[in-house]
Amino acid sequence: MTNDSEQTGRAPETAHESVGVVFVGCGYAADFYGATMPNYPHVEVRGAFDLVRERAATFTGEYGGRVFDGFDEVLDDPGCAVVVNLTPVSEHYRVTRAALLAGKHVYSEKPLASTYEEAAELVELARERGLLLSSAPSTVFSRSAQTLLRAVGDGLIGTPRLVHASLDMGALAFMPYTQWRSRRGVPWPYRDEVANGCVMEHAGYQLSWLVAMLGPVVRMAAHTSLQLGGEWPEGSEPAPDVSLGFLEFASGAVCRLSIGWVAPADLSLMVVGDRGVLSVGDVWQASAPVSLRRHVRTSGKTNAYLGEPEQLPFVAPPARHRYTDTHDLTVGAGVADLAAAALRGEQPFLSADLCLHVLDVSLRLSEGRGAMEDVTLPAPLDLKPAIASALTGTAAP
Ligand SMILES: NC(=O)c1ccc[n+]([C@@H]2O[C@H](COP(=O)([O-])OP(=O)(O)OC[C@H]3O[C@@H](n4cnc5c(N)ncnc54)[C@H](O)[C@@H]3O)[C@@H](O)[C@H]2O)c1
Repeated sequence: MTNDSEQTGRAPETAHESVGVVFVGCGYAADFYGATMPNYPHVEVRGAFDLVRERAATFTGEYGGRVFDGFDEVLDDPGCAVVVNLTPVSEHYRVTRAALLAGKHVYSEKPLASTYEEAAELVELARERGLLLSSAPSTVFSRSAQTLLRAVGDGLIGTPRLVHASLDMGALAFMPYTQWRSRRGVPWPYRDEVANGCVMEHAGYQLSWLVAMLGPVVRMAAHTSLQLGGEWPEGSEPAPDVSLGFLEFASGAVCRLSIGWVAPADLSLMVVGDRGVLSVGDVWQASAPVSLRRHVRTSGKTNAYLGEPEQLPFVAPPARHRYTDTHDLTVGAGVADLAAAALRGEQPFLSADLCLHVLDVSLRLSEGRGAMEDVTLPAPLDLKPAIASALTGTAAP
């Protein structure tokens, strides 16, 4: 671990080794990366390529390296060991595949690809060629996530049994999203985001923590729907904006997961064990406090069996370089972990297999796969008169 970073993954063997990285795609999300890469001295930012040259020019002007004039120039650069794929989701498969075929390790923004088949092909290609493949999100490297994982691993709550996890970001359709700009002034690509849907954009932020903590998902069901589809500008093609998932993990723990951009913001995670409860208020904040409530002896009722909340000391220091935004997403940590793994000849923590599993579960959530049964009513139910009579104390007419 580097002393001044939040990356608590493996570090390179010596302080002098570095890995050349080129960013492909320099849009809105690229600023998150550029601003946080100085946390990781073993990553050398060689430059950037974007179909819109001006975007690569502003990126390198702000964050270093040189402009690459074509994707082939990136692939031909012997100093580029890692391609960081920050293109739109629809381009992920094509760009990642070309980079792997050219012998580059790849760190991709999420999701790894648009379909399971494409992603599995990329994972196999990387394996065949002895290359590393990894994908965002990398908030599992945040000091909050690392502190939570350590606390669970140390048995502070006994055996984890139940998780409540939410990635409800607020009602996006009612926010001024057309005005959002990155540090370099790149507009937020809302049409892509709403077409990808809340699950493909955001499920990984909770799933990566959950899988790291509880192992793979072994059984699940999901219900997904589009509730605010009519609120988007004409020409938008919104995907589901609400997803409720029920997950069972290899450890035996179960989880209710809520993802969406309809409900007011709730990005919390609560892990209930048989000896206590751990919670994080906001998984999008690298330094969100981790709170522990242990079981205590009591003669009271409701939650009196839980002691006063204790804030756990963080297991890692804060990052020196952060992107000033409403969220602190630790994005550079995933690239840094892959680069360190390349130097050590190991797999990154966010291995291709882990990322493929997170994609698989995300796709199942996004498609609402699992058993939702129709409910058979004995007779048509009209509840309004019954409610009226209950309120007024008079019989419905
Ligand atoms: N927007 C966010 O808030 C956000 C946050 C985290 C992660 N992400 C993820 O980051 C990725 C990129 O999203 P974004 O918001 O930066 O999108 P964006 O549209 O702002 O930027 C994408 C950039 O890629 C360029 N591009 C497209 N095809 C290319 C190609 N084949 N080769 C080179 N450049 C190409 C475009 O010109 C554009 O500048 C997506 O996977 C998204 O899910 C987005």
